[in-house]
Amino acid sequence: MRFLIRLLGALWLTTLIVSVAFAWYEVHQDRQRLEDDLQRRATLTADAVREASERLVVRGAKTGYDRVLVRFGRADRAIAIYDAFGSVIDATADVRKGLGTISPLIGEAIQKNAPARAFAPVAGRSRLVYVLPLQDNDRPIGAVAVLLDADSLEASEWDLWRRTGVRFGVLMLLVTGITWLTVRWSVTRPVARIAEWTRQLKAGRPVAPPPEADASLFGSLATEVTSLARTLARVRLAAAEEARLRLSGESLWTEERLKQFVEIRFGERPIYVVSNREPLSHVREGRSIVEVQPASGLVTALEPIMLACGGVWVAHGSGSADQVVGDRVGLPTRDPAYTLRRVWLSEQEEAGYYYGFANEGLWPLCHIVHERPKFRADDWEQYRAVNAHFAATIVEEMEKAERPIVLVQDYHFALLPQLIKQARPDARVALFWHIPWPNFEAFGICPWQKEILLGLLGADLVAFHTQFHCNNFLETVERTIEGRIEWEDFTAVRGQHTTWVRPFPISVAPEVFETPVTDLATLRAELGVTAEWMGIGVERVDYTKGLPERMLAIRRFFERWPEYRRRMVFVQIASPSRTRIPRYQALQQEVRETVRTINEALGERGWVPIVYLERHHDHAEIRRYYRAADFCMVTSLHDGMNLVAKEYVAARDDDEGALILSRFTGASRELRDAYLVNPYDVEDVASALYQVLTADASERRSRMARMRAQVREHNIFGWAGLLMAELTKIPQPASVPRD
Ligand code: F6P
Repeated sequence: MRFLIRLLGALWLTTLIVSVAFAWYEVHQDRQRLEDDLQRRATLTADAVREASERLVVRGAKTGYDRVLVRFGRADRAIAIYDAFGSVIDATADVRKGLGTISPLIGEAIQKNAPARAFAPVAGRSRLVYVLPLQDNDRPIGAVAVLLDADSLEASEWDLWRRTGVRFGVLMLLVTGITWLTVRWSVTRPVARIAEWTRQLKAGRPVAPPPEADASLFGSLATEVTSLARTLARVRLAAAEEARLRLSGESLWTEERLKQFVEIRFGERPIYVVSNREPLSHVREGRSIVEVQPASGLVTALEPIMLACGGVWVAHGSGSADQVVGDRVGLPTRDPAYTLRRVWLSEQEEAGYYYGFANEGLWPLCHIVHERPKFRADDWEQYRAVNAHFAATIVEEMEKAERPIVLVQDYHFALLPQLIKQARPDARVALFWHIPWPNFEAFGICPWQKEILLGLLGADLVAFHTQFHCNNFLETVERTIEGRIEWEDFTAVRGQHTTWVRPFPISVAPEVFETPVTDLATLRAELGVTAEWMGIGVERVDYTKGLPERMLAIRRFFERWPEYRRRMVFVQIASPSRTRIPRYQALQQEVRETVRTINEALGERGWVPIVYLERHHDHAEIRRYYRAADFCMVTSLHDGMNLVAKEYVAARDDDEGALILSRFTGASRELRDAYLVNPYDVEDVASALYQVLTADASERRSRMARMRAQVREHNIFGWAGLLMAELTKIPQPASVPRD
């Protein structure tokens, strides 16, 4: 209210000053104009009266003046004729008695022998008095005075001030009304709503900001409050979880515990993550730029760690609008917790390093899927060059950091550990290989196997998902390069440097659901699904994922158990991947064709067995499907871990749902309660599907509950904490020079 009064006071004062100034100017101009007009009329009349009366005065006539007065006098114009001594000879009757007030003016005009004028009250009215001397041979012999009524001048002046007053009053009313409404709609109401919204957030009820909050006035305020609320909600959830764990005596890894652990163990030592895939891409969509989270298990796993610990994530800037946004981005953009440092690659570099050596060479080399690797010398050169490029960027980033921690990710950067260690021996470097490591014979076909192994052994710690892959790796090192393998403690020793090789099965963050469970009916209606059962598959279109095999197994299921036609539908989310590689293009065609053929063969009016959604889906969208689906199929032909399996389990906080899982995934070693299958065996997978649909609900629930407990207990915070704990245990040589 006080604000409104102050605002109105300022507006009123301004309006008053402006109105008075303009009115004064107008009055002044108007008066000038009217005076000029009176003067002109007085001069004309005086000249005429002088002409008519001058001869009479010269002659000393005693009569004849009345004719002059009658001829020139009017109601608003009086005439007076004077002799040389300033005495009235004759004058218009209505002023005759009041002429005393203008005697000095008459005397002055006669004396100076020049016209004189003044405003004076005569006979009760204000008048302009204009006096013209009468002359005989230029000598003053008397004077004529013309008295024009000037009362109208005053009246018009007052009229103008009165009109100004009314105008001011109306203006005041309008200004007051409009200001009050504007303040109410644009300030008071939005502020009240924002206050109410903040109260809701404070109480832990996440509600969307009021629409007014988007206006330019409150935009930044709303953003700040939202980010504050998010942080508050995260902290509150973390604290609640901690308290719950403390009470139940559990020692689970949580985001908060990881943060504290890193603080205690590493203090101020900064963390650097390096991966090819960036956690967030900026992509052009028409005229705007949108944020896209890539379909990557690696990103799903590492993002929670960066959110918890902060640091710098160095990755390839591959989004179509990344360069516009810049090479350093605070993430998440709404509430930055860490920095993304983008590395730019030329087309040629990307083609050779990423599409070529990494994905046509190492990828098929490490997965047993009978896809022949392609090793091209040009690709290898680009791979080396890009590893050196990343190493230079990381070293530059770490310039001011003391004893930094570097977590290198995956098969794109086999040479990086050695390059980083050469430049920064004080850095602690771990490399996590997210895909399987083949046996030494299979690896032996790579022409640059020695360089790759030497590059990897630059790390203090090389980690895989399983002990089996650790063993394969150590055996490959033992048989390929000079050095000593200590099988008792799983280390590879070369000269002064020891590399520890350990299994750390990667995982996902325990799901915390702030939003209500998706309305399953809504999702099914969106998809046009009316069937009683719904299955889900979420994959990049990659030949390791066994998509055609899965589709054939679904077909087989419907052939063997036709009573499930129309009663079950399978939704496949397929994210296009590495589409510049011909093998991936061919696979895309093959999967589409397989789905089409099956749908044509088995589909009926109002029902298709497979709904194929071939586009990128973000995490939130995928989570809706996880929670709506009765079962999830993860049937990779070979996979280091396969986080989709764990994501699905983590999303089922209702303990419903079932998981059909390939026994050739890392995840199958932990999720023993899944329905394990051989993805190459169509009959086996079809039977598993039948088992899921016919299983007792309580059995399905208890299987899911056990899997959920496993994922919760071995979550991503534990993965990061244990990996970093291992890194600190590794003895560091006494002197670690910086360069
Ligand atoms: O599984 C190996 C891996 O590199 C993951 O780390 C990543 O999630 C996935 O493949 C995605 O591949 P890309 O980054 O080539 O799309």
